[in-house]
This record gives sequence, C-alpha cells and structure tokens, in this order.
Amino acid sequence: MQVVFKVQRYQPERDGQPYFQSFPLELPERATVLDGLHQIKDERDGSLSFRRSCRSAICGSCAMYINGAYHLACNTGVETLKAQEIVVSPLPHLRVIKDLIVDMQPFFEKFERALPYLMTTTPPPERERLQSPEQRRAFEEMINCIQCAACYSACPMVWTDPQYLGPAALTKVYRFVSDSRDEVGRQRLALVDNDHGVWRCHTIFNCHIACPKNINPTWSIQQLKRKTIARRLRFWERG
Ligand code: FES
Repeated sequence: MQVVFKVQRYQPERDGQPYFQSFPLELPERATVLDGLHQIKDERDGSLSFRRSCRSAICGSCAMYINGAYHLACNTGVETLKAQEIVVSPLPHLRVIKDLIVDMQPFFEKFERALPYLMTTTPPPERERLQSPEQRRAFEEMINCIQCAACYSACPMVWTDPQYLGPAALTKVYRFVSDSRDEVGRQRLALVDNDHGVWRCHTIFNCHIACPKNINPTWSIQQLKRKTIARRLRFWERG
C-alpha cells in the first residue's frame, strides 16, 4: 500500500513554528499508523520523536491527532482511514516537547489530585473486600480508561481553565465513588464540588467523541453532579 505520511515536526528550541514533513511510504497491508511512524524513524529520519510502548491499545502513550480525529496510533489501521495522505499531529492544545511528544505533566498532576486509588476507613477483612457482579458492573466502563489524555486534549473547558480537573480525572473520581468497596465517597465528592471540578463541565461531549476506548466521561461527570448535590442535601450515605 502506498501512502504519504504528513507528520508534524517541531523542536521548540530550534524551530520558530511547527511544520509538516511529508514521507511517501510503502506499507504492508494491515499496517497501523504506528507502523508507518516506525518505518519513518527506522529508515528515513531517526530524529522523529513519538511515544509508544505496548502496541496493544493498553498503555495510552500513542494517542495522536490523525486525519482530524483522536486515535491511538497503534490500533489505527492505515487502510481504515481510507486516505492517500495520513496527517499526524500531536494531541492538540497540549505543549509540544518535540514532534509528536506532548507535555503530559499537567494531565497526570490532575489525575493524582483525583486520588485514583481505593480508600477505606474500616479495618481490612480477613480476606479480600468482596463485591457482587452487579456492584462491579457499576464502574465497568470507567475502568477501561488508559490515561491517553485524548479527552483532556479535546475538552474546551480544559483549554480555557488550566485548573479544571478535566474529563479523565473526573471520570476516575466517579469510578471510585461508584465502587462499593470505597469508603471515602463524601471526601471525593467534596473534592470535585467547585468551579474547577464538575461544575466546569458544560456537557460538550468532545471527550466522548475523542475517547479511543469509547468511554463517556460527560455521562460520568453528570452522575457526579447528581451525587454532589445529594451530598450537599445530605442524601449521600456512603463514605
Ligand atoms: S502503544 Fe500503548 S496504547 Fe498505543
């Protein structure tokens, strides 16, 4: 298959502006966009920089903006894009460190602020904390998040409010608020009940469109808003 990869290049300390560089490629059938980038790096220009690790849509490191949409480069078949020209850019609205590598620090700092781990206040049982299949299903969708930051990059509220926790971190809060084993729900809801938390979300749904795992953070945030109000009215029981 013959395609042209048009890749955004940028080295801030050297280049005045980002620019696109074209690479005509011959790729095998079923090659992914990541395969194409590897071919460029291995055979044409070793200085091309991009993140990747698992090559299995699990680690989230290869999220990019490809032909006008958010994708994981490792599970996006070139053929499926149905285009002769594959335009590859870094995640928009995040600071570019080099070429396709963006600064993920603010994203992960906010993720950390969301306390993304199970917390309990009661002594641990002799064995594990049990959960029924139904209780487990309550957060089924949210655990598929691979922290690729596509939703974060796509959210206009993130662009305009640097303090906003953002869709991924808020989805993580909802994941633990929904977990029957977690015992600090009130603390979690208090954390997001402010102008930089759930109330900053304007239900734009960009995050849902961008998510390569088809998670719907907008829905999770709306559920959090409901629970936040329940907490204020003292209807929230757990934690
Ligand atoms: S390389 Fe891990 S998600 Fe693509």
